[in-house]
Amino acid sequence: MTPTEYEYLRKFLKDNSGLDLSADKQYLIESRLLPLARKAGISGIAELVQKLQGGSRQLITDVVEAMTTNETFFFRDKVPFDHFRDHIMPEIIKARASKRSVRIWCAAGSTGQEPYSLAMCLKEMSAALTGWRIEIIATDLSQEVLEKAKAGVYSQFEVQRGLPIQMLVKYFKQTGETWQVNPELRAMIQHRQLNLLHDFSQLGTFDVIFCRNVLIYFDQDTKINIFNRLARQIEPDGFLVLGAAETVVGLTDTFRPIAERRGLYKPNDPRAAAAKPVLAGAAPRLAVMAGR
Ligand SMILES: C[S@@+](CC[C@H](N)C(=O)[O-])C[C@H]1O[C@@H](n2cnc3c(N)ncnc32)[C@H](O)[C@@H]1O
Repeated sequence: MTPTEYEYLRKFLKDNSGLDLSADKQYLIESRLLPLARKAGISGIAELVQKLQGGSRQLITDVVEAMTTNETFFFRDKVPFDHFRDHIMPEIIKARASKRSVRIWCAAGSTGQEPYSLAMCLKEMSAALTGWRIEIIATDLSQEVLEKAKAGVYSQFEVQRGLPIQMLVKYFKQTGETWQVNPELRAMIQHRQLNLLHDFSQLGTFDVIFCRNVLIYFDQDTKINIFNRLARQIEPDGFLVLGAAETVVGLTDTFRPIAERRGLYKPNDPRAAAAKPVLAGAAPRLAVMAGR
């Protein structure tokens, strides 16, 4: 790969998915894109770049998806789900006692283990939620992972990662070598394609936003931009949950960490955040990925 081709791909990925690759990630690009090129009958990186420059829509989607990291598992990191069960939901149940509704957004939910883990937590506390309207919206950039999330079918290996055996027995049905999430749990989640670089105000406001292990791939300006826009989509008493390697500290004052609850944040004042200018550089600009 020539330096010019690498620079083109770096910029292409940053503009289309937010992925911020350092100057020495040629091997990563090659390991992910050469198999894709081969499958598409493309001779190598040079021809791939030419075709991207030509605007091949399917190829643009395929390249962006091939470069995403979709690693996830049930109840990943455990602590956020303990917080969800023991702190977030008890507060929400109190605060929304008359409205009896809760909206949860699982941004970058990948193949579904994260939103299904949240759905299982809610099912486990169903006695306190009788008569409540529960909405879980799971979004991801990648259509491929969303298809898997929607189907809710997991291998033996996948269900052995993080999922307690009682939950497996209770909420999944075994079919041959795979396990499928039961229809009731699947019906709790709406799956939608969404690029976090794009406007997401149409989703409305949420009581809880899980946005974990995706912002780590973005540069600082993109993170700030997304935090500021997330702040507008969260109720003033809502919660933002980030991944273990992510924080708002030093980036924005739209959220503040909750002491002694790692990964949990509260919005400071979303209305004030709304008045802040959105930084250039991460502005929504990819029409190609929209509306799919
Ligand atoms: C490492 S997974 C994290 C999954 C889950 N949140 C977790 O913590 O287990 C990151 C996900 O972010 C998605 N992603 C990457 N860039 C994105 C973007 N610009 N907008 C929305 N999702 C994106 C990827 O497709 C991938 O499924």
